[in-house]
Amino acid sequence: MQLEILGNADTVTYQNGALVIKTPQAEARVWVYSPTIIRVCISKDFNHSDESFAVIEKPLDDFTWQHLNDRVELTTSALKLIVHTNPLRFNFYTADGKPLSEDDARFGTNWQAERVINYRKLYTDEKFIGLGEKAGDLNRRGCNYVNWNTDAAMHTITTDPLYKTFPFFIGLHSGLTYGLFFDNMHKSYFDFGATTDEQMSWFGADGGDMNYYFFGAQGIRNILEDYTWLTGRMEMPPLWSLGYQQCRWSYMSANEVLEVARKFRQKQIPADVMYCDIDYMDGYKIFTWNKETFPDPKGMIEELRAMGFKLVTIVDPGIKIDENYPEYKEGVDKHYFATYPNGELYTARVWPGRCHFPDFLNEEVREWWGASFKALTDPGVEGFWNDMNEPAAWGQNMPWMVKFGDKFMPEIRNVYGMQMARATYNGTKRILNGKRPFILTRAAYAGTQRYSAVWTGDNAATDEHMLFGQRLVNSLGLTGMSLIGVDIGGFMGNPTPELMVRWNSLGPYVPMYRNHAALGMTMREPWQWGDEYEQIIKKGIEQRYKLLPYIYSSFYQSTQTGLPLSRTLAIDYTWDENIFDTRYQNQFLFGDALLVAPVISTVDNVDVYLPIGDWYRLGSDEKFSGGQVINVPCPLTDLPVFVKTGAIIPMQNIIQSTNEVGDGVLLINIWNGNEINAFIYYEDDGLTYDNENGIYYKRTITFDPQKKEITFGEVEGSYQSKYDKLQVVGHGFDGVIDRETLNDTQSLMISY
Ligand code: GLC
Repeated sequence: MQLEILGNADTVTYQNGALVIKTPQAEARVWVYSPTIIRVCISKDFNHSDESFAVIEKPLDDFTWQHLNDRVELTTSALKLIVHTNPLRFNFYTADGKPLSEDDARFGTNWQAERVINYRKLYTDEKFIGLGEKAGDLNRRGCNYVNWNTDAAMHTITTDPLYKTFPFFIGLHSGLTYGLFFDNMHKSYFDFGATTDEQMSWFGADGGDMNYYFFGAQGIRNILEDYTWLTGRMEMPPLWSLGYQQCRWSYMSANEVLEVARKFRQKQIPADVMYCDIDYMDGYKIFTWNKETFPDPKGMIEELRAMGFKLVTIVDPGIKIDENYPEYKEGVDKHYFATYPNGELYTARVWPGRCHFPDFLNEEVREWWGASFKALTDPGVEGFWNDMNEPAAWGQNMPWMVKFGDKFMPEIRNVYGMQMARATYNGTKRILNGKRPFILTRAAYAGTQRYSAVWTGDNAATDEHMLFGQRLVNSLGLTGMSLIGVDIGGFMGNPTPELMVRWNSLGPYVPMYRNHAALGMTMREPWQWGDEYEQIIKKGIEQRYKLLPYIYSSFYQSTQTGLPLSRTLAIDYTWDENIFDTRYQNQFLFGDALLVAPVISTVDNVDVYLPIGDWYRLGSDEKFSGGQVINVPCPLTDLPVFVKTGAIIPMQNIIQSTNEVGDGVLLINIWNGNEINAFIYYEDDGLTYDNENGIYYKRTITFDPQKKEITFGEVEGSYQSKYDKLQVVGHGFDGVIDRETLNDTQSLMISY
């Protein structure tokens, strides 16, 4: 195998908005997408489609460039790219010339056969965060990773790769931030100084182009905003998907599903969602129901609805080979399945036994798949759980010669799950005729936030996995994903009652709160743990429901800015070394105002690092100064959660499901502070797309401690809020303001 280098530039020209640089070995093109986003694509062959599954924006034609002696300088209002021409190297600087990220001067980009790698300079103090669902610490310096979507059953906290591919990382050094998105679907590799004796970082792929987007905005929030501008943002999820979700592999019959749902209501434990895992189907045939155990799906779903529950059902990609199964027959007749190169259908085994696999890369197949959901939507299903879409087959990797249309498996593997989620989303959105579908997927690629929520797959019932899971959620938050879940309680193995309680105290602060367990594991519903623990779990779930107005508004923020709900402290406290300390790296902000410190179940006090600022402990309102480690009690009844001073958190009184109207009181909780703070409150019907036509309720709530004033800004949108009373609840105000009731007042002067 020969090493091919990029070589020296022969020509530099400007063509259709791109800078085109040719060397004898390859060609590089550079586009500007915004003043802070520059795309570089280096290829040995530009004669292929430039389709991206991730990127939804087009380049601008807005940059200046000049060709000097040995370099080309391309400038935007925020960035400077210096392309050294002998040999070709790409170095990014701030507009005032500070290095953000540079090629390794010796190696830059090169190829070994189809494999393409970019070597980059490693700065002494450089840290790396990102790549989404990846094992290891928050700071990925010294680690290396592979992106190859995998059914990582039985994974440990060091397993790599896992289920998803997000080839996007953020680099931090010299007080500067940058991001890099390697938009290449092949199996890819990232090395943050791990195997180079800390000399370089590198990334590359088994095939395709050296095609990356460089983000030069300063501040992680701005980089996330740019990244999600480029790859899209989530839309408002159905409100019910933010309630408590009860899942299991499997509730084996309609009676069992209904029994569990009834018990939630009898016990007055709030919940919104029941799930049907694979056993609702007839022989694991997708889009069917088992006639014996689920004889009347419509009746079951209506009963659930009457109790305020929605149902989510699982679908896997594998279509069972069965002559009496319409989806199989149609898929074969219309050539919708993956094939061997000689045209024979590719067969592998998954849950249903021998299966074929839809080619979700093909639009016609996506349409067909999407339309098939009528079998689930007709009886009333509104949530669709896409599993096994790495794609998984027993034995893992499919043969590399398996073809999806004109592409071989290795080229499409990492986007297969995303395309399945896309097909599911588009199809069910159409059928549901104006209602928001809820889509959940296990496999994903950059951009999946436009279609689906994700969860982190088959974890285990250990303390270690609980902490690891939170780290995965926080890291996924750096990829545009915001609605993210982990299997609360642990999928494999049985949690101790204490772990179950502790995990459920974290649950309210996991963006998607779903309890799930594997076949054969102990039952996991909140009442399986004895009376005392049931009450604690119930309190946790109630806390989730109290916080829903805040959570829903925070998801609105995700739809507007790409900021996730669960935020690693690196987003807001980027330059504070302590937050990378492995003792504190799992801590996160939940929305703007809450800091959560996950804790294992076997301790009753813990060290927490509070970043700069003042903080109140949620519940007791005990005040602490930040910028220090504090040791706090953490009995099973009280996970360490802190509130930023000045915080504004809208809450509601307990309801049993999001379907309930409640008492109409919106509780504006405000914690005293020194600085002015604002919160954007957002509400809509939580169910339809009317919000896209201005039917929402949005207003900015401001607390100005100097003026001692709380202001409710003008209402935007035409939705009638479901709360007809506002009540201000003060914390840390020496007890003077307490439950002031307002009538939609513009502002409230408070005395304390
Ligand atoms: C996979 C999923 C798991 C599901 C099981 C059965 O292991 O990750 O969540 O319960 O399949 O469908």
